Amino acid sequence: MRGMMLAGGAGTRLFPLSQVSSKQLQAVYDKPMIYYPLATLMNAGIREIHLISSPADLPIFERVLGDGSQWGIELSYGVQPNPGGIAQAVLIGEEFVRDQPFTLILGDNVFHGQIGLDTEVAEFASGAVIWGYPVEDPERYGVVEIDNSGSVLSIEEKPNSPRSDLAVPGLYVYDGTAVSRAKELTPSERGELEITDLNMSFLADGELRAAKLSRDATWLDSGTHESLLESSNFVASVEKDQNYKVACLEEVAFKMGFVSAEDAARTISAMPLSPYRTYCERAILE
Ligand code: TTP
Repeated sequence: MRGMMLAGGAGTRLFPLSQVSSKQLQAVYDKPMIYYPLATLMNAGIREIHLISSPADLPIFERVLGDGSQWGIELSYGVQPNPGGIAQAVLIGEEFVRDQPFTLILGDNVFHGQIGLDTEVAEFASGAVIWGYPVEDPERYGVVEIDNSGSVLSIEEKPNSPRSDLAVPGLYVYDGTAVSRAKELTPSERGELEITDLNMSFLADGELRAAKLSRDATWLDSGTHESLLESSNFVASVEKDQNYKVACLEEVAFKMGFVSAEDAARTISAMPLSPYRTYCERAILE
């Protein structure tokens, strides 16, 4: 399966930080934010990945991530001229998708623990899969209501009276019909093609499933100053307590068998002397 990462958007809530760089290139503790969703895709075995961002930020992503060969993956890039919504990005990726199933992940979403994406990717046949994550303030999110079998009863965008406490994280698996469905959407009041409307299109055809994120999995959206700090604190705490790095792409690539020890050694030798390099040497080469 292929993967798409969305790293456009205005990032208005992160002003004035957003003047310095794109939201998804800001630090989440010791790595650029985009490393985390990229690691999530790689950990699910996804190796062909299309990153979409604004014309101004795309060259910086290309400089930071390159063509992905250092991690044994293929990275390609697509431009979103204006932030016209998450579902618009599906249209921008049309040529990349080529009617095949794909996983879409938002570039400011940090997942940790067993989220079950690997199983969904391996077993996916058709339709769409979303996740539900219990939160205290569901009215801030897209909210999904599911029955005991995982069938979706309703999805609503930022409802005043949520029908469940399950927020929909920025992770979706779609079959190739997502593109033609996105073409049918009309912009919302805020002028965006909404991902909830795309999900509704699958729901209307009985083609939407929801997986509940297990209790030991963590989902953090890093789009505000508070949640950005929370993500950094979370990663710092896991790394200190468990003595390993979250979303070290070189380690993930090696562990997944995307690169050999020799390939990894070459990549590591090109890194500046740093705690990150020392970690890679210890985790991969020793
Ligand atoms: P949001 O956080 O909903 O929007 P934003 O990034 O523009 O931030 P703000 O609301 O503070 O202005 O976006 C969620 C993710 O989707 C984020 O990673 C950016 C991405 N995105 C796009 O790539 N293109 C878009 O048109 C939109 C709206 C979001």
